Amino acid sequence: MGLWEDAKNIRDKDPAARNVLEVIILYPGFHVLVTHRIAHFLYRKKCFFLARLISQLSRHLTGIEIHPGAKIGHKLFIDHGMGIVFGETTEIGDNCTIYHGVTLGGTGKDTGKRHPTLGDNVLIGAGAKVLGPVYIGDNVRVGAGSVVLKNLPANATAVGVPAEVVRVGNIKCCPADDLDQQALPDIVSQRISELEARLSRMEAKMQGEYPPDKPIGPQ
Ligand SMILES: CC(C)(COP(=O)(O)OP(=O)(O)OC[C@H]1O[C@@H](n2cnc3c(N)ncnc32)[C@H](O)[C@@H]1OP(=O)(O)O)[C@@H](O)C(=O)NCCC(=O)NCCS
Repeated sequence: MGLWEDAKNIRDKDPAARNVLEVIILYPGFHVLVTHRIAHFLYRKKCFFLARLISQLSRHLTGIEIHPGAKIGHKLFIDHGMGIVFGETTEIGDNCTIYHGVTLGGTGKDTGKRHPTLGDNVLIGAGAKVLGPVYIGDNVRVGAGSVVLKNLPANATAVGVPAEVVRVGNIKCCPADDLDQQALPDIVSQRISELEARLSRMEAKMQGEYPPDKPIGPQ
């Protein structure tokens, strides 16, 4: 896929983009794709210093730091840029969308493959951190500000710190699913019953019908 297609893809995905020329001139998410292609080519040719030099210069220009070793699929849409980091062993599938402030990084505990792998059509919301050699399945959506530390199944939506799956496809899932919504405990009536029982015991005690050494309650 050529640079023209990259630019057209960004134009199609960003409702604020008016035309392809605007994308080519103004969009850091496009500029970084150009420089990463060159840096990644040099990295594969083992020109590591030159590759790194290009990626660092690109970082100054775009605010997006992509290690030259990162593998990026077709049609990546990086919206806004700034504060984005992709580590050396990151892999990104086709047609993904990544917002500003996203880190696809390591936890500091792994060696070798230590950065995430994203499937196709993955969306990572603004400020989200995906850490470690985790696998993020196709069509996953990670909520803005989330921190993902474990694998996510295809079609999942994960949110929070640490991120939990709240939806897979059209099915919502959360810990509250275990709760029987039709038979919620009535805490007020439970408490009244307890107080009534205690009152009866007090009355019985006053009338001498209750063992004097036994506590009245609550029991
Ligand atoms: C997660 C997201 C992609 C929506 O995915 P979705 O599959 O449509 O999920 P829903 O909107 O149905 O939300 C599912 C649940 O997660 C919650 N949720 C959504 N985004 C969340 C977030 N970032 N943090 C915490 N909870 C979030 C919702 O409130 C909802 O909770 P509920 O079931 O208790 O009502 C979207 O909310 C998001 O964060 N997009 C990122 C957009 C972004 O970064 N924009 C920057 C533009 S500059």
